[in-house]
Amino acid sequence: MPKTSPPPLVLLHDTRFAEHAKTLAASLGVTAMAMSDADALPAKADIVFDVDLHDLGIVDATRRLLARLAPAGRQIFLIDGRRDRVGRVQAEALGASSVVERAKAFKALLAAHAVPRLHLPAHPMPKTRAGRSIAAAGQELARLFDGVLSDEPIDIASLSSASSEILSGLNEAGVQPWLATVRQHHEGTFQHCLLVCGVAATYAQHIGLGQPLAIALLNAAMLHDIGKSIVPLSILDKPGRLSPDELVIIQRHPAAGYDYLMQQPELPKVVLDAVRHHHEMLDGSGYPDALSGNDILPLTRVLTVCDIFAALTEHRAYKPTQTPAEALAILASMVREGKLDGSIVRNLGQAFDIYIPTSDLAVAVKRPYLRA
Ligand SMILES: [Fe+2]
Ligand SMILES: [Fe+2]
Repeated sequence: MPKTSPPPLVLLHDTRFAEHAKTLAASLGVTAMAMSDADALPAKADIVFDVDLHDLGIVDATRRLLARLAPAGRQIFLIDGRRDRVGRVQAEALGASSVVERAKAFKALLAAHAVPRLHLPAHPMPKTRAGRSIAAAGQELARLFDGVLSDEPIDIASLSSASSEILSGLNEAGVQPWLATVRQHHEGTFQHCLLVCGVAATYAQHIGLGQPLAIALLNAAMLHDIGKSIVPLSILDKPGRLSPDELVIIQRHPAAGYDYLMQQPELPKVVLDAVRHHHEMLDGSGYPDALSGNDILPLTRVLTVCDIFAALTEHRAYKPTQTPAEALAILASMVREGKLDGSIVRNLGQAFDIYIPTSDLAVAVKRPYLRA
């Protein structure tokens, strides 16, 4: 857990920016409030003023409000853009702690305030081969997720070296001890990403995938959910089902990850494709682009299968934990529905010593609620 929690963040809005403030607040997982309700502000809150600073009546109302409340936290004012000099001058006259352009508000507020960051476990990893390989991958993951908000460029060499370390670490330690170590030492999104890496490495080794493609697959596995760094932890780790609004926010993660990675040099197209399309289904029922059939590349299909297998077998508060055999039966049912590639599911079963009889592909299996 973070050592200290940031002060609560509240978006105060006037009528004109009500919709903008509510959407922004929902994406950040924080509260939006009308100026008229400001008396209910939590103590010491940081306040974002999403108001029309070109309207002198609103400016005056804001000034009176600040004098009356004398807030203990920071006051952040949103303005229309870099050239909005009137907005900036008014914000500064009102005593703004900082002024943020509306178009950049989401990322700026996310980085500074709203989202407790994903964290690595505080206790040391075991000094086994599996432990060393997982520690290296975990640190790389933390760097990657932090990089999205700080706009740090990705170090491709370091990413590929973590991927190669996973492949050799898993080869030496064996898949089950490797996955068990991840489960004991990580939780939440980092656990999920590491498990996907372990499953993908097992798959790559089983089918004898050449080193360049295996590294590409592992790099994609490390990066596939990087867009979740802009999803509040309150949504990512929420026990129980997500609301329709929360679902919309979480389903932005493949495109958000892709948009961020597109700005990075040197990432192969297959990796970018796998990140954007790892939630597509062969029957066109997936997202974000509802791709179907051959429009989904082979490496992406492999990542999708490994992603779902990992999600089914990991421990999360919102779903039961499936055994590998149960997970394979569910994957087989998805093959039957035309969603997943049958040869990949069969290969993954073999990689885990689980044989799927052809007849199993014809049996409907109740699918649990999933967030991959
Ligand atoms: Fe995932
Ligand atoms: Fe995902």
